[in-house]
Amino acid sequence: MTMETTLLIVKPDGVQRGLVGRILQRFEDKGLQLAGLKMMHITEDLAHRHYAAHKEKPFFAGLVRFMTSSPVVVMAVRGVGAIEICRKMMGATFGSRAEPGTIRGDFGVSNSFNLIHGSDSPEAASQEIELFFAKGEVFDFPQGNLEWIYDAAEEL
Ligand code: RTP
Ligand code: MG
Repeated sequence: MTMETTLLIVKPDGVQRGLVGRILQRFEDKGLQLAGLKMMHITEDLAHRHYAAHKEKPFFAGLVRFMTSSPVVVMAVRGVGAIEICRKMMGATFGSRAEPGTIRGDFGVSNSFNLIHGSDSPEAASQEIELFFAKGEVFDFPQGNLEWIYDAAEEL
């Protein structure tokens, strides 16, 4: 596995329900590095670009309406295998089916208001980070405690 940076979005429902801190805490607790963080209001254009893969789906219009309805918090999160780790921590897409212990499983029941987005591949992660963060907004800096978070002889 390699060091990866993934894009996570606490969706409008997560911000409105006051869950930003608790959601962010889970990724910090896991040992992942927070490399970028900001609050923003997603524009219609950005929502269309971000979810372009779903533009033909019946839920697309509702998804865009939801994502642009209220501010979100975006994060760039870094770690070895971070993309898959974060997807697992988010849980299955639909809150009604997500396993307990995951973010979607623990904090929600809705299928469309599902609290969090995470990049699903290395290609998506780099595209999405470029879409949501300007140059200089994602930081490269040594992670404190790195030698105790990873086994440097085997994992780094
Ligand atoms: P995300 O992209 O937001 O991280 O979610 P995901 O990969 O788990 O799910 P994806 O298939 O990419 O769907 C994107 C978002 O669209 C909404 N959705 N609604 N009503 C429906 O059938 C349906 N299917 C998907 C969800 O908000 C989902 O997160
Ligand atoms: Mg997706």
